[in-house]
Amino acid sequence: YDYDLLVIGSANADLVIGVERRPGPGETVLGSDLAVHPGGKGANQAVAAARLGARTALLARVGDDAYGRLLLDAQRAAGVDTGGVLVGGAPTGVALITVDPDGDNSIVVSPGANGKLTPGDVRAARNLFHASRVVSAQLEIPLETVAEAVRSLAPGTRFVLNPSPPRPLPPEVLAACDPLIVNEHEARVIIGDEPVGDEPADWARILLARGPRSVVVTLGARGALVASTQGAALVPAVKVDPVDTTGAGDAFTAALAWRLGQGDALADAAAYAARVGAASVTKAGAQGSYPTPEEVAAL
Ligand code: RIB
Ligand code: NA
Repeated sequence: YDYDLLVIGSANADLVIGVERRPGPGETVLGSDLAVHPGGKGANQAVAAARLGARTALLARVGDDAYGRLLLDAQRAAGVDTGGVLVGGAPTGVALITVDPDGDNSIVVSPGANGKLTPGDVRAARNLFHASRVVSAQLEIPLETVAEAVRSLAPGTRFVLNPSPPRPLPPEVLAACDPLIVNEHEARVIIGDEPVGDEPADWARILLARGPRSVVVTLGARGALVASTQGAALVPAVKVDPVDTTGAGDAFTAALAWRLGQGDALADAAAYAARVGAASVTKAGAQGSYPTPEEVAAL
């Protein structure tokens, strides 16, 4: 394989304002100066993996504009192969982000060019799929594009999905996931109408019955539950003082996907990924906060 990880997904300019608290409906609050960072769940995953040393490629679409160039520059600086990043068709995606003093964020995404990443773009990138050990995706691009990515997987290639923002998933996508990585909210949306209680082990069991070969339920401060037909295990969280949680989930997913491709068992990969996610939370922004292997080891 030429690549340890191919990420297919979104690239956004993150427009970030720090706030004391989020405004309610009809309310105006004053915040910090504006910061503009490269972001987007796909672009974030690619940078996170490359920072860890994975040979990484990104399949995405940005606009022919300043934000698109910001995103491409950030990918290249991290060492990501950007041959699969398409330019044009719509303005670069934008995420409006507020971050509060606890490091928690709220995000509104305008997909822009991400919404124009088509199944045809996936078919045209067939070579990338065949050159990649692991493929990972999220849901800030059209669902039919993710479905085409699943159909494009080479026989030995592993597929990892973080369905964020969540929506119901077709059986062919669920069946390809190894693992499906969800938080509580995402688990509930994907489970849909089936009654489900408050036990993460039950969510994992119900999700596994829908077809994924494995499931990871991220539980914030409680860690992550990993589950497959082999059984389930709780991976503890790594405690840090949060500065900015934006993109921590993307770092977790990327690290997990990479480690799985390197042969780690699911629980070991999740334990490493938890350290990567925790390291990212100690610094502002998403991509700029992703750790090197040395920083992970020092945590
Ligand atoms: O997961 C964090 C990311 O979500 C941000 O970088 C923002 O662009 C949105 O896609
Ligand atoms: Na961060």
